[in-house]
Formats: sequence, C-alpha cells, structure tokens
Amino acid sequence: MAIWNLGSINIDHVYRLPHLPQPGETLAAHGYGLGLGGKGANQSVAAARAGSVTHHLGAMGAGDDWVVARLDAAGIRTGAIQRLPKQATGHAIILLDAEAENAIVIHPGANRAIDEARLTRDLAGIAPGDLLLLQNETSAQPEAACAAKARGARVIYSAAPFDLAAVCAVLPHVTILAMNEGEAAQLAAAMPQGPGVEAMLITKGAKGAEYRDLRTGAVHHQPAFRVDPVDTTGAGDTFAGYFAAGLDQGLDVAQALRLASGAAALKVTRPGAGDAIPSRAEVEAFLANQPI
Ligand code: RIB
Repeated sequence: MAIWNLGSINIDHVYRLPHLPQPGETLAAHGYGLGLGGKGANQSVAAARAGSVTHHLGAMGAGDDWVVARLDAAGIRTGAIQRLPKQATGHAIILLDAEAENAIVIHPGANRAIDEARLTRDLAGIAPGDLLLLQNETSAQPEAACAAKARGARVIYSAAPFDLAAVCAVLPHVTILAMNEGEAAQLAAAMPQGPGVEAMLITKGAKGAEYRDLRTGAVHHQPAFRVDPVDTTGAGDTFAGYFAAGLDQGLDVAQALRLASGAAALKVTRPGAGDAIPSRAEVEAFLANQPI
C-alpha cells in the first residue's frame, strides 16, 4: 500500500517572541529560524518517517531546490511535485511565544496554482487500499479526492485551516475527516445531520485525540503524552501523517492513535515543523517508556 498526499509545501520563517503581538504593536524577535513547512509537506515527512511509501503531489516555484532535497532526504517520492516558474513557493510567517503557542500567516503561492490536468495524470497510479491525504492549503482538493475515491483509495481530509465551504466541497469523497475539537463543534453546528463520512479524527491538544467510527458508533480515546513543549507548530500534521501511516501499515485504530500521539508529543519538544518530525525509531523508543 502507499500514501499519496496532495499537500502544501511552505518555507517557514519562524520568529520567537516574548508574546504574540497585539494590533498596532511592534515587537523585536529574540530568535529566527527558516525551515521546511506546509501542512502537506509536514504530513508527508511524518508518513515517510513512519515508514510508509509516500508520494507527495503539490507545487512550488522554480527555485528553492533545498526544499525538494529535504523532502527527498526524508524518503518522500517527489517526482510529481510541480515546479511552476510563474509562482512563488508558498511561505509561512510563524510567530512563536514563550509558551510554545503560535500564530501563522501563510502566502499560498504555488500551492493554490496546481495544474489539475497534470495532477490527474499523476494520481493515475493510486490503487485500491492506498490512502490520499489532503489539507486545506492547496487548490484542486475536490478533484483529487474524487479521482482517488473513484480508484478505490481512502481519503483522509485534514480540515486545516478550517473553512466550512472547503470542507463541504470535498466531503462527498472523504473517508476520514480530521479536525480539532473547536472545528468539529463548528461543523456539527453547521451540519447537524453529520458529515456523512466513515469516521472522524478529532485532536484535542493536551487532552489527546479521539477517533469516532460513525458506521459502528465506536469511539477510541488516546490521551496525550506529557512533555515539555518548545514549539507546537506542525504537531497536528505529525499526528495526521503518523496516523495515516499506521493505518497504511495495517495497525488497528488504537495502535495507530498511540503511534501518532507519541510522534506528535516528540515533535513539540523540538523547534521547527517538517525538520523536527521524529523518525519511527525515535517514536518507538519514546513509546516504550510511556504508560499503555
Ligand atoms: O501546521 C503547521 C504548518 O502550517 C506550518 O509548517 C506552516 O507552513 C503552515 O502551513
């Protein structure tokens, strides 16, 4: 089996601040870093480091080769990444406070200019049993989800950044809908009849995560592991990528949740996004010392 990911690729500019700025406030950063990011790229790094064959579908500008080199180094199949000469590679401005919380501004650039005809050709290899990952930072989400479902693949949609119209456009093709609990509450208010998917994966920050099987009614809870956070950026992406890889590798839901939770916990102890996602060996070593 394999994971395919139509996902954003960003260059993250990270500014460490004493607190997040108020409107009209000017603040001097006491730290700066530049690294690999984008919810999509982060999920691909997580899935590949978890040990799954991972194809990244997405787009970048013509330069920034170091980004592709870093994805290659993580073991991701990068041949389908579109290089669009008239577009800038997406980037994110990430403000990080002393409590490791963040505020993020993104410039989508190439992520929202994907060539749909080429994407459809590149998705032709997706097979029954494969997984397609999507997040809400690229164009062509419904088209990719529809093509993947038609070929018998399962679709996991991370509704982040949350936008109700974007969720509704992709929902008919989604198998598992992933979101945080605030977004799940917004969706429930807008859609009291339910989203019509097989399952929902709800992340709850320090309270852990929950997988709701909407066909059987079964609910699996996974508590969060206690760590000292330094940077929460990309923790949700790490969770989603590791969870998908767990399912891809035949783990049951409870096992995949524990694996994903361990990976996300380790991630928040490290600065950065894509570059900070732990390897499978690191996650297994961490989990060996955690309560069952
Ligand atoms: O989820 C974290 C990611 O969101 C960052 O890496 C940033 O690029 C934005 O896409």
